[in-house]
Amino acid sequence: MDHVEIDKKHCWHPFTQQEVWCTPQHQPLMIERGEGVWLYDAEGNKYIDGNSSIWTNIHGHNHPVINQAIKNQLERISHSSYLGFGHPLASELASRLVSFFPETDLQRVFFSDDGSTAVECAMKMALQYRIQNGEPGRTEFIAFSGGYHGDTLGAASLGGVEAFFARFRKFGLTVHFVADLDELRDFQGLEKIAAVIIEPLVQGVNQIHVWGQGMLEELRIFTQENSIHLILDEVMTGFGRTGTMFACQQEGVIPDFLCLAKGLTGGYLPMAATLVTEAIYNGFLGDPERSFYYGHSYTANPLGCAAALASLEVFAQEKTLTGVKEKAAYLAYKISHLVKENKHVKEVRRCGLVAGVEIDSDKKRVGEKICEAARKYQLLTRHILNTIVIMPPLSITRDEIDIMMAAVDQAINDVLD
Ligand SMILES: Cc1ncc(COP(=O)(O)O)c(C=O)c1O
Repeated sequence: MDHVEIDKKHCWHPFTQQEVWCTPQHQPLMIERGEGVWLYDAEGNKYIDGNSSIWTNIHGHNHPVINQAIKNQLERISHSSYLGFGHPLASELASRLVSFFPETDLQRVFFSDDGSTAVECAMKMALQYRIQNGEPGRTEFIAFSGGYHGDTLGAASLGGVEAFFARFRKFGLTVHFVADLDELRDFQGLEKIAAVIIEPLVQGVNQIHVWGQGMLEELRIFTQENSIHLILDEVMTGFGRTGTMFACQQEGVIPDFLCLAKGLTGGYLPMAATLVTEAIYNGFLGDPERSFYYGHSYTANPLGCAAALASLEVFAQEKTLTGVKEKAAYLAYKISHLVKENKHVKEVRRCGLVAGVEIDSDKKRVGEKICEAARKYQLLTRHILNTIVIMPPLSITRDEIDIMMAAVDQAINDVLD
């Protein structure tokens, strides 16, 4: 049996109707290797990774600095328990992460495995903090409609995408959804709210919905005025995608909880971190029962820490953030042409190197068809409903942006002209 046959016989893919996946006419691409922004399939075809391998990759694939760091750590130890022990790379990584924030804020790091668990941690901490610090009535959350915070049951309770999460709502926590700041201001019952969660600057899964400038800062002021904690889910926006290392830095906002994952290791290994303020951390000190009873077997995995430290090193060596600003401006220029010249484009929403091209069409599965057509033009990306996602690794060059945007343009025309 070849690998595709085995896949169809034994594997189960995320967010996928397996009945369609397994039909004989469906020939899934098998990605075998990557180099920079390029992915290579089993037949040797190459494609720009326009979706950064589900929003994870930062400096490109097969980066020598990150590869070497993982290899070096592999020679020492791949994993040891963080329950009851520490290890040097976790200490180093924690100190590097907190160094992005003022010395009085977000100075404590709790490691976990992926975006969902980073959020799960923040939620459980937010609840436990209230319960054991004299506010047991504050056990509900507010989230934004259309938001996405992960698929574990707790994180899924915060999910505002009805198609994914509606059927699970009754099993989760009490979460109220608001569309924007106005609805939040009108919300009755703030005294029961432990925390508000938001994807700052831009909601990814909500078809790249960009918040208005200043919204985050206003939200921060509102949460402080109402003694509500603010959880920033920077699982997608973190590590340079929006133009600064973290999206919250663009509006000078420091949350109570900051959730990081995806790009933390440069997109090489699964790892997450939840950063919290000293005020939150202090609320867990004292008797043993005040401890945060939470953890995963691979918490603070040393290979992940090595990759994350190397990724931060590459940010410095390659001046990645300076490059992102220039590339984002170039992407904006290319997008303005696309909007002007392609009549099928309804709107493009962009923040840094993250963009969503919304197609003006009632045709069924149009986004999916455009992404399939784009493969012919050396682009692999995904759609969310009618929106084509553009989220390349930050290492993409101008020439590669040209290839990517030409592929989007041609693929749209192939499907709709
Ligand atoms: C904003 C946001 N939060 C959380 C998650 C969940 O991350 P993971 O898939 O690593 O669990 C995602 C994943 O796309 C995300 O975009």
